[in-house]
Amino acid sequence: MAAPPSSLVAIYPGSFDPITNGHLDLIARGSRLVGRLIVAVLRNEDKQPLFSVEERIQMLEDAVKPWPNVEVGSFNGLLVDYAAAQGANLIFRGIRAISDYEHELQMALMNRRLRPEIETAFLMASELNSFISSRLVKQVASLGGDIAGMVPAAVESRLAKRLCKQ
Ligand code: PNS
Repeated sequence: MAAPPSSLVAIYPGSFDPITNGHLDLIARGSRLVGRLIVAVLRNEDKQPLFSVEERIQMLEDAVKPWPNVEVGSFNGLLVDYAAAQGANLIFRGIRAISDYEHELQMALMNRRLRPEIETAFLMASELNSFISSRLVKQVASLGGDIAGMVPAAVESRLAKRLCKQ
């Protein structure tokens, strides 16, 4: 595949509580399309996360080491303002099933209204990874199910430790 257009900077935003192999699949795909990819964790979330933002960043930083053009950041407030501050002209979001589409479309159109110069692109993970979500991984792990191959090994052991403490 040809080298990515180095002028393109993309943000891949999310909660990443925790990162899954579905996210990593998207990061691998996204990193081939742009010169710089920033995986950005939202800080000001309403939901009660299982892992702190710092823990999530640490897990992401370990997981993205194979890709030299991928870095990890975090943001408060509006995603498009963070994207603009980083010089990003693209937002990547993953779409798994059609059920994701309505919410993702709403967010993409709102972001376009706020900053029309920033484009959202939807990527799809491989069919092997497209059913994985952080929410289901946490649920399965908390009920003693096997999540091997759904998250990086380091995340699997962190989940085991965190969930057996509760
Ligand atoms: O992994 P998630 O929880 O689906 O990610 C959602 C995220 C972080 C992309 C979304 O909540 C977001 O962009 N929040 C920032 C607030 C914002 O910019 N809102 C206006 C546009 S929808």
